[in-house]
Amino acid sequence: MNQTIVLCGFMGCGKSATGRRLSQYTGRQLIDTDRYIEEKTGKTVSQIFVEDGEPEFRRLETEAVRELAALPRKIISVGGGLLLTPGNAEIFRENHCHIVLIDTPMADLQLRLRNDVKRPLLQQPNREQVIRDLHAKRIDRYREASTLIVSGEGTLDAVAHRILVATGILTEDHFHDPWKR
Ligand code: S3P
Repeated sequence: MNQTIVLCGFMGCGKSATGRRLSQYTGRQLIDTDRYIEEKTGKTVSQIFVEDGEPEFRRLETEAVRELAALPRKIISVGGGLLLTPGNAEIFRENHCHIVLIDTPMADLQLRLRNDVKRPLLQQPNREQVIRDLHAKRIDRYREASTLIVSGEGTLDAVAHRILVATGILTEDHFHDPWKR
């Protein structure tokens, strides 16, 4: 049982920040696939999109999944499009990873992504609509690709604790979630 936690969800849902918090709590290494690809290629994600195209970025993502999925007890935060490429979720599943969808309300996503300059898919007019359309197109796939779904509402601590409970790392007796309905 590999027990690696893969954090997925839409851009701005809190994968990287929650991943850092989980890494602090558990002592596990955090690997962010965007940073992993940037280090490996020596280019930023934006550069890869412009110079090599999105399909090449998606290929690099799958390569990263193959290299990372078998590592035990990691926290892996994946780019918002990674699970949409057929086969990637299956590689994580075959390696017995928890694939955790952080499901964050649209209003929070809009607020966090409002001034973003780093995500190539958002650098176009009418960003609010782009976010809504892309989210609507992707949410079903996120749900079917994941093995666990947690709410992204509330503080980073609340989301991190929710994930620790959902994955069985922490028992619910140790944590009261004030956002739980
Ligand atoms: C993307 C999300 C980004 C990054 C790239 C493409 C997407 O990662 O991989 O800009 O297709 O949703 P974050 O979800 O960490 O922003």
